[in-house]
Amino acid sequence: MIRIPINASRSYQVLIERGLLSKAGENIRQVKPACKAAIITDDKVANLYLATVRQSLEKEGFSVCVYIFPNGERSKTAATYLDIIEFLSKNNLKRGDLLVALGGGVTGDIAGFAAGTYLRGIDYVQIPTTLLAAVDSSVGGKTGINLSSGKNLLGMFNQPIAVLFDPDTLATLPEEERLAGLGECVKYAVLEDGELWDIMSLTPDKASIARLVELCVSCKKRIVEEDERETGGARKLLNLGHTFGHAIEKLSGYTVPHGIAVAKGLAIIADACAARGILDTSERDRIIALLKKYGFDLSVRYTAEEMAKAAVWDKKADKTDVDLVIINGIGRCSLLKVPVNKLAEFIKC
Ligand code: NAD
Ligand code: GLY
Repeated sequence: MIRIPINASRSYQVLIERGLLSKAGENIRQVKPACKAAIITDDKVANLYLATVRQSLEKEGFSVCVYIFPNGERSKTAATYLDIIEFLSKNNLKRGDLLVALGGGVTGDIAGFAAGTYLRGIDYVQIPTTLLAAVDSSVGGKTGINLSSGKNLLGMFNQPIAVLFDPDTLATLPEEERLAGLGECVKYAVLEDGELWDIMSLTPDKASIARLVELCVSCKKRIVEEDERETGGARKLLNLGHTFGHAIEKLSGYTVPHGIAVAKGLAIIADACAARGILDTSERDRIIALLKKYGFDLSVRYTAEEMAKAAVWDKKADKTDVDLVIINGIGRCSLLKVPVNKLAEFIKC
């Protein structure tokens, strides 16, 4: 089993092993005595993996109740959040009880926020079942929901007590979701270079996926341990490709999935950095070739002005400047403060 310790405001381990879902109960018992456990999951994941996780928890003496919501970003709302809170209350969960987030990033974000706020905070475990959730959203403690004015605008930093990832769950992932996860993996490869770049340059298969997730999580671990609450700048590096990625997501009415928008955002920033002499054109070409190898459609149907306007509404932007993650080279990224009124110009090549 791969074990990655995360030493943030709470210390916990990310466990990675094939078949881990059926051992979820015994691994959670290592960090939490048997108690009432509310599994929060969506309808698709429930059909696939709920029975395994439930049985495993019950075998270890946990008393399980289950909340299922309709899958997809449209459920990441205040209504679902409050419904979960009511569910926890009706099922009489106490401060010492547990919430288990079983699913992708939507489940992890909403369940982590519910866990952080119900009774002023109960423990929760992340069991990511998408590649995106495994390499990114399940680790680092960002939790929250969307408001009508934008994504992730209500939330909190709330670290889980454990993260359990079973690579076998990826076998059922639809192609578009796999691609969305690979968009985040390319982001880590550009941030890190080295073995991560090498694995991504080959096509990760069943044998290398656990190592790929381990390397991505290890990159995120270092950044989160340095700058957990995104105050010092290091964590902002994880937004590589996200400024324009978020803008594309938003302009598309969230029909372009997050990781796929990130891939487009990566291409935009790589092109802009190359055009400005910040990034060697040969390195830009390698990044674009890697994205194309996975079949990402890098076309964008919005103007620079439209994207800049949408990006400025991103919660991470302040009033006058945007902290743009630029690529100085593969494995060498940094932050550049770009005045809001110069953002469109920056990406016009
Ligand atoms: P998701 O949770 O909606 O999952 C995508 C789809 O895949 C859903 O339809 C789901 O039912 C299905 N699914 C999940 N696991 C499956 C499996 N094993 N087999 C078949 N189908 C499966 O979305 P996501 O892409 O995992 O996550 C996106 C969300 O994560 C966004 O809301 C984004 O804002 C958030 N996010 C959060 C962070 C963070 O740090 N907290 C980081 C990145 C993204
Ligand atoms: N996904 C960005 C972060 O966790 O900070």
